[in-house]
Amino acid sequence: MTSKLIAPSVLAADFANLQRDIEMINTSDADWFHIDIMDGVFVPNISFGMPVLRDIAKHASKTIDVHLMIVDPDRYINTFAELGSDILTVHYEACTHLHRTLQAIKDAGMKAGVAMNPHTNVSLLEDVINSIDVVCIMSVNPGFGGQSFIENTYQKVAQLKEIILRKNANTLIEIDGGVSDKNAKQLVDAGADVLVAGSYIFKSTNPIQTIQDLKNRIK
Ligand code: DX5
Ligand code: ZN
Repeated sequence: MTSKLIAPSVLAADFANLQRDIEMINTSDADWFHIDIMDGVFVPNISFGMPVLRDIAKHASKTIDVHLMIVDPDRYINTFAELGSDILTVHYEACTHLHRTLQAIKDAGMKAGVAMNPHTNVSLLEDVINSIDVVCIMSVNPGFGGQSFIENTYQKVAQLKEIILRKNANTLIEIDGGVSDKNAKQLVDAGADVLVAGSYIFKSTNPIQTIQDLKNRIK
């Protein structure tokens, strides 16, 4: 049994104290940095772009997991590899030729992720699951931190886990949006491997402790 992972979402950090917040994640029990890139077109919000990611990568000492919420992500695959992304996740809904996109991400030396909006059925990944390193199930509509967790996510996780096992794939299941101590254990019990958490961690009074508690909860 592989251990379960925590990926704090930097979107909820204090951008005026970004280095401090990155060092906090470095010293915590967290496993990955989750970096949300939004273009204002695929989602109704703009987060931050390349210069910020470059500076994050300079200080981050853990896996950098980049979640692209942008249209036509193929244009930037090599750029994100050069910026220091270890995992590059594109949205299912933004890729006409997903199989080709996944290949391009791997050819650029990164692990390939696919994110799915809450309305997108996980069975659509059946024919490509063996090429995916991480499936990111969105448990909120992408675009903003601090939204409420969508309860239907549990059954999506279980359905995807069944596909992964049946296809003998090595794919990790990541959950993104509204994750907290209220749903972490149930998500892992349903088959989740990686939990992204933004506001739950950064809005807590002691983020290091919150990460540790979350990690203990899903052991
Ligand atoms: C939403 C982003 C999430 C977000 C999670 O579009 O993809 O990664 O930062 O934030 P919380 O944990 O606050 O829902
Ligand atoms: Zn995200």
